[in-house]
Amino acid sequence: MNRKPIFAANWKMNKGASETEDFLKSFLSKLQGQDFPCEIVIAPPFVSLAKLAELLHTATAVQNAHAIQIAAQNCSQFDAGAYTGEVSVLMLREFFVHYVILGHSERRAIYGETDAFINAKIIKAREANLKPIFCIGETLAEREAGKLESVLRTQITDGLKNVPEKDMLETVVAYEPVWAIGTGVTATSQQAQDAHAFVRSVIADLYGADTASRIRIQYGGSVKPNNAAELMACPDIDGALIGGAALEPQSFLEIIRNGCDHGGQ
Ligand code: PGA
Repeated sequence: MNRKPIFAANWKMNKGASETEDFLKSFLSKLQGQDFPCEIVIAPPFVSLAKLAELLHTATAVQNAHAIQIAAQNCSQFDAGAYTGEVSVLMLREFFVHYVILGHSERRAIYGETDAFINAKIIKAREANLKPIFCIGETLAEREAGKLESVLRTQITDGLKNVPEKDMLETVVAYEPVWAIGTGVTATSQQAQDAHAFVRSVIADLYGADTASRIRIQYGGSVKPNNAAELMACPDIDGALIGGAALEPQSFLEIIRNGCDHGGQ
């Protein structure tokens, strides 16, 4: 099955509009003339979406830039109303947002997001035709207690409750072991591949083998230029969700280059 790898920069709470502009100018100049067989996505903070959308629109028109898609880092499960601090899916669409990261472990751990809450957001995102980047992953304690598979199965099953197959086909799954996020500790490629194969098997249980073989599953957690190739060479890894190493244009580009060279199917 030919799955196009997807490399997404999750900037978290970094880079306002002017830093977004600096990054993008540098990144586009490095990217110019290169066409990688993958999708490139940038997820800036909400307040930088407008700047990113404007710059990408101009860049694409002027220099035929490699298409870069925009992601949000979160969305509301509601349409509009008295929800202080929230941003709706239709608001995101106005900034040409195509993807939305949902269920990131920081949102689960720091903001108490549950599988049911994440599920409601996935359903709302699909109503607006946004593509969820649905994050799952176990803590170190869960892994060491032998609960890896049961934790992942619950996150997938409850997070995707009532999500029909047609919407699942527009969803990207990001497997991010919590103990590897921002720690510099990466899962070995064998650990990552085993978890990805398991995730795909759970999706096959829910949606059938054909759908499971078409879903892209990204790896996330301390992905760097020097480990991207090995991770992306694994048969069930279809790209990466990158935090720290995607804050610098050069290292984000090197991850994409190394990952595509060695892992692009
Ligand atoms: P990291 O973050 O690459 O800094 O580990 C990944 C993520 O949180 O998505």
